[in-house]
Amino acid sequence: MPAEPQTAILGIETSCDETAAAVVVDARTVLSSVVSSQIDLHVPFGGVVPEIASRAHLELLMPVVGQAVAESGLTPKQLGGIAVTHGPGLVGALLVGVAGAKGLAMAWDRPLIGVNHLEAHLYASFLDDPSIEFPLVVLLVSGGHTMLVRMDAPGEYRILGQTLDDAAGEAFDKVARFCGLGYPGGPAIDHISHHGDPEAIRFPRARMGESLDFSFSGLKTSVVNYVRKNPDAATEDVAASFQEAVVDVLLARTAEAVEASAAVGICLAGGVAANSRLRERTLDVAMSLGIQAHLPSRAMCTDNAAMVAAAGFHRLHSDGPSSLSLGANPGLRLGSEPRRA
Ligand code: KG4
Ligand code: ZN
Repeated sequence: MPAEPQTAILGIETSCDETAAAVVVDARTVLSSVVSSQIDLHVPFGGVVPEIASRAHLELLMPVVGQAVAESGLTPKQLGGIAVTHGPGLVGALLVGVAGAKGLAMAWDRPLIGVNHLEAHLYASFLDDPSIEFPLVVLLVSGGHTMLVRMDAPGEYRILGQTLDDAAGEAFDKVARFCGLGYPGGPAIDHISHHGDPEAIRFPRARMGESLDFSFSGLKTSVVNYVRKNPDAATEDVAASFQEAVVDVLLARTAEAVEASAAVGICLAGGVAANSRLRERTLDVAMSLGIQAHLPSRAMCTDNAAMVAAAGFHRLHSDGPSSLSLGANPGLRLGSEPRRA
């Protein structure tokens, strides 16, 4: 398609263990999206090793960017800006992306746009379906974060609840590791749960008073205690029952958030949104509430740079470019950053 040059944004993502670059027009049309996963490098260690991640990003970043720009069919001068994740994430990994993006912004004389990784996840569904209506409740569930966000328009959002301890993905990864299912744990539990009984074991469903916050550390401990006391329990049943408890809690709070905010849709985001039980039951909940469910494709759930480019497009239009003094901010929170230097 003929791209409107000034609305095409190059996105760069290096916050964890995916090196990714993408070119997106108008925050909706993906011209190219390249994701190079380093997962094989981290599997032997049972989790992401920050130093290995940074070194791999250094090697992969420019080839991945080169491929994304080439596949987009655009020249660097046709890009309206270069968006890069500057937090939250692993500081060394973020620094590689931020430094690379600054170099490109200077070399190509294009605006630099710092993007919050969590905000980027919020835009992922819009790349699959630009006609999503507001107000919307987004359940953002990843390896590092679990939050319910009310979105009223692009760039207008409010956190309604979040985890007080482990993130949902972290709980999947820890339980999987304890059960000997390897890393990453989410897909392994998802897979094995198809062969188990979700009602075999009644694990606790934590409720944090009247709030829409979450807590998963008690559930994780309860799984560990159960397996220690019942060493012969079928791992399939443990996994399916654990997964059911996580999904129950996530969707109970999501339904409350929808009711409290009169939302017309539920949208899933983040790596755990790839979970098949969560996807299936989100459809049921949305149907029972009479609202839309938006389930991003699996490629848009996990970390990618198309969502960074989409977030960058909106940020550039609302706030203008970032300063070239942009730094990596590993603890960046959603909606809390001072936008521009
Ligand atoms: O969003 P993401 O790719 O990276 C972060 O920003 O954290 O999420 C990764 C997390 C991991 O904890 C992984 O175990 C989990 O998403 N995950 C899943 C599934 N696929 C990935 N969890 C449950 N079921 C899945 N199918
Ligand atoms: Zn992520």
